[in-house]
Amino acid sequence: MVTIEYRNARVNLADQVYDPAEDSYLLADTALELVKDGMNILEIGTGSGFVSAVIKANRDVRLIATEISPLAAECARSNNIDVIRTDMFAGLKNGQHFDVIIFNPPYLPTSEDEKVPGWLNYAFDGGVDGRKDIKPFMEQVHNYLKPHGIILLLISSLTGIDEVLEEMRHHGFASNTIASKKCSFEELVVIKGIKE
Ligand SMILES: C[S@@+](CC[C@H](N)C(=O)[O-])C[C@H]1O[C@@H](n2cnc3c(N)ncnc32)[C@H](O)[C@@H]1O
Repeated sequence: MVTIEYRNARVNLADQVYDPAEDSYLLADTALELVKDGMNILEIGTGSGFVSAVIKANRDVRLIATEISPLAAECARSNNIDVIRTDMFAGLKNGQHFDVIIFNPPYLPTSEDEKVPGWLNYAFDGGVDGRKDIKPFMEQVHNYLKPHGIILLLISSLTGIDEVLEEMRHHGFASNTIASKKCSFEELVVIKGIKE
């Protein structure tokens, strides 16, 4: 089994599960700047559990995660993340509210012939415009946020940053880019949203 270490966290990786990449590291570092001890945290689409594991290794928080892939959910559990295997928010109990909700969605525009086989496709396939999962996320997320709670969303310049900011505004979130990193063919950004 491959295990990586980052900022006090040890994280097991697994086949058919998204390997933490530049996006995961940018999101984990940004989350650490905002997450304080005592907060309630939710991560949607935790994958290996990397971002959640980095937060838990450095902050005294209550954290749960969701994940659609059974293989990723199993991997995240091996990293001591409390994971509900479900589609986005579906398996959460009514009335659960969080200070911070984090999502590194599948954000790449993906055509039919670019899909990859198996559960790993859920990590990459952002639909034709890269925003397939952002719309349902934005439609539901306010139901799970505490007053003044924040969302942290990782996307790429290929996803359409202006379009995502507009989608967030449409759902009543004041949003801005709080971190970015240029990679070879894209710029990764973390958008922070607060319900107005
Ligand atoms: C880009 S990967 C990010 C994984 C991990 N959070 C990280 O940053 O390394 C996206 C993850 O979201 C999961 N996912 C995709 N759609 C989902 C959905 N509707 N509900 C829950 N998880 C989902 C995928 O299976 C994948 O593990």
